[in-house]
Amino acid sequence: MTKRIFLSQAEKHKNKEVEISGWLANKRSSGKIQFLQIRDGTGFIQAIVIKNNVGEKEFEKIKSLTIESSLVIEGILHQDKRSPTGFEIEVKKIKIIHLAKDDYPIGKKEHGVDFLLDNRHLWLRSSKQRAIQLIRNELIYGIYEFYKSKDFVKVDTPIFTPNVCEGTTTLFKVDYFGKKLYLSQSGQLYLEAAIYSLRRVFDFSPVFRAEKSKTRRHLIEFWMTNAEAAFIDHKENLKIQEEMIVYLIKKILKNCSKELEVLNRDVGLLQAIKPPFIKMSYQQAVAELKKLGSNIKYGEDLGNDDETLLTKAYSKPIFIEFYPAKIKAFYMKRHPEDKNLALCADLLAPEGYGEIIGGSQREDDYNLLLKSINEHKFLKKDFIWYLDLRNYGSIPHSGFGLGIERILAWICGLKHVRQTIPFPRMLKRFYP
Ligand code: 4AD
Ligand code: MG
Repeated sequence: MTKRIFLSQAEKHKNKEVEISGWLANKRSSGKIQFLQIRDGTGFIQAIVIKNNVGEKEFEKIKSLTIESSLVIEGILHQDKRSPTGFEIEVKKIKIIHLAKDDYPIGKKEHGVDFLLDNRHLWLRSSKQRAIQLIRNELIYGIYEFYKSKDFVKVDTPIFTPNVCEGTTTLFKVDYFGKKLYLSQSGQLYLEAAIYSLRRVFDFSPVFRAEKSKTRRHLIEFWMTNAEAAFIDHKENLKIQEEMIVYLIKKILKNCSKELEVLNRDVGLLQAIKPPFIKMSYQQAVAELKKLGSNIKYGEDLGNDDETLLTKAYSKPIFIEFYPAKIKAFYMKRHPEDKNLALCADLLAPEGYGEIIGGSQREDDYNLLLKSINEHKFLKKDFIWYLDLRNYGSIPHSGFGLGIERILAWICGLKHVRQTIPFPRMLKRFYP
């Protein structure tokens, strides 16, 4: 029986008779020969159909194949130096599984992004979109690997939550059998509970922000990995983040060179991502931004344009440390030398990409945490459990959250985060 193979394994089967299955991506013909471009999800190959090999009737049937039709092909795999994939298949037999409708909407011509997003269910088949998803996959495996190498244990955090985590303005309210709950903004608070059991933990989950932002950096539903570790201070927290980013970039450069090439990514810029990353205080960042022409004032958060401006000026990621506590989340510990500042840092990716990580040391003192909860006008009753963690063996601890689509947009060199997630949820887009 002919062996059914994936195109990714072509190398192992050269000069053999094989069976492949996939879709017709493109075709052309010249008289007695047809050239079919086939993709099978693992790779691409050119199939050569010669009239004398398949017979007149078959040849005509194959000629009428429409783009995206699904097929099973039997034939001989030949190495071919001229072919972009290095291989060709000389067709002996073609079985048509499904003849596609003759109007596949995505062609070679340029389409507008709205059209492509309306057809996201089909657009995913295109080679660039496929490359992005393969890099996403590599990134996800890399994240799990990195954590494992550092003794972080995966802990699954809930999506329905009674608490605010990152601020009330971006909460998604849901009706939970007559009670008001929120969709998780971040699993962080739950991870803080888990460190007392497992020391170092992480999650990887979708999170939700009811943010009316329409920038190239914002999604309503996105994926985040949070990490949290006991007995880790602010400085050590940054070290872990730096190691993680360096690890991920290196892994993707090593294993996704083909995909980066499909995306025309300038890999030289990624190869330059080596430790140490740049560190500057919030105060320095504001001064720097003013020099670059921004009208940011001390005490304001960096706007989208500020992030672009600042990170375009650097080729390495930048940690911006010690923001005014007022503009940061309630759980952050204060700077020991200036109580107005938070022991926190955001990590900004270069080339104009901006924030990819937010992190901090956490307030571990019961009374100071309660004070902050009150100052933020949150209800103590919602945070009893979280405060309770400060009652039993409280410890210095820190953590961070990495936005998957943000880091991917940077690694892939994409303008907008929307292409990095299979089905983006944005302010005005939730179809398909
Ligand atoms: O900076 P954020 O809001 O931090 C937290 O949620 C903390 N609880 C994390 C922690 O300390 N464990 O979000 C973390 C990251 C951001 O740096 C950014 O990369 C991404 O999540 N992010 C978004 N990505 C896409 N669309 C949005 N609307 C995003 N908001 C945040
Ligand atoms: Mg942030």
